Order: sequence, then structure tokens, then C-alpha cells
Amino acid sequence: MGKPVILDHPLIQHKISLLRDKNTGSKEFRELITEVTMLMCFEATRDLPLKEVEIETPIAVAKTKVISGRKLALVPILRAGMGMVDGALKLLPAAKVGHIGLYRDPETHLPVEYYCKLPSDIVERDVIVVDPMLATGGSAIDAIQQIKKRGVHSIKFMCIIAAPEGLAALTEAHPDVQVYIAALDQKLNEHKYIVPGLGDAGDRIFGTK
Ligand code: PRP
Ligand code: URA
Repeated sequence: MGKPVILDHPLIQHKISLLRDKNTGSKEFRELITEVTMLMCFEATRDLPLKEVEIETPIAVAKTKVISGRKLALVPILRAGMGMVDGALKLLPAAKVGHIGLYRDPETHLPVEYYCKLPSDIVERDVIVVDPMLATGGSAIDAIQQIKKRGVHSIKFMCIIAAPEGLAALTEAHPDVQVYIAALDQKLNEHKYIVPGLGDAGDRIFGTK
């Protein structure tokens, strides 16, 4: 698979600066996550196959193109991944949505799974896993493992902010997964939070702190 793609479009960078600001409230934070996700999806779907069709315009028959090939599934990692679903579905309205619930144990920082519900036909779909944060990489690695267990071969992972440690762990564990990130930050702190990051994405999306 290709190297991780960093989607550093100026609009994305501007919106991430607003996301990082501790004074940005939940309503604006959610709207920004949706907007960044739409911009990222635009790039992350650049390789979707097309087929030629004929469409009658009011003037003539046009030979033109539509998306073809396999169907898509989105899999947000709960909770914070939920914040990216609306933006992705705006561009990919026919995608089915599965959910994987993981939280990081506050002591060990290891992911604990509490929910997994995936579309029954997921093996026939190309999957995009979404989560705004890639810190140690544990959550993404586990979620992708769950999806691979169902026989899925085509998986992309899209996150907004990544730590170098998490990116390295994810690409080592799943070298076949194409990774899209919008910002690669400096490091993890002693609590395994991304520095400078944006804090706890789930809490900021859902206003739980
Ligand atoms: C956050 C985030 C990722 C995970 C990243 O979720 O949304 O899923 O941490 O950390 P990792 O790369 O070290 O695994 P969290 O566990 O805080 O749960 P929440 O979304 O329910 O708040
Ligand atoms: N999860 C978050 O929401 N933020 C971090 O910085 C790390 C994990």
C-alpha cells in the first residue's frame, strides 16, 4: 500500500487550527469536524473507479462517467468517530455504516472493545474506518483487526490528527491499509494524548467534560 497521505489543503489546515483552539465550543467543533471530513473524503476517494455511461442532456447524448465498482462501508470508531459520519455520508450517501465501540483504559491506555455491529455484506464492500484521533494507534489497529476478521481486504483509515507513534504502529500492524491524515503532530504526552493535538475529541464533540 502507498505511504500515508497527509491532506494538508489550506482549507483543512485552517479548520484544524479552529478545532485545536480550546475556546471552540461543541457546536462549532462538530461543524468543523464535519467540514474537515468532507474535504478529506474528497481526496480519499480520488481512486474510486469510474465507468462510461450515456446520459441524455436537453441538447444531446453525452458520453460521461459515473462511479462504478464495489460499494462502500464507513466504520466509525465510537465515540469520536461518530463525529465524522455525517460529513462522509454527505459525499458517500449510499455507503452503509458499521460501528465499533472502543475506549482506552485510563491506566493501560490499551483499547477495550464494547460494541461491534458491521453491515452483513461488509465483505463485499470497500471499507473506510474513521476516527479523528490516532494516538498510540491501539484503537485503530484493533478496529481494523475486527473488520479483517470478517474477510474484508480493502480498508482505508482516515483520521484528522495523528501522532508519529500511532502512525508508525498502525502502518506496521496493517501495512495493506491506506492511511489518510490531515495533520501529523509532534508526539504523545505521558497520558498518551497527542501534543499539541486538540484534547479529548469525544469529550469536545459530545460536550462531556
Ligand atoms: C479516542 C479516539 C480514538 C482513540 C485514539 O477515543 O477517538 O479512538 O482515543 O487513541 P489510541 O490511538 O491511543 O488508541 P477514546 O478512547 O478517548 O474514546 P471516546 O471516543 O469514547 O472518547
Ligand atoms: N484520544 C483523544 O481524543 N485525544 C488524544 O490526544 C488522544 C487520544
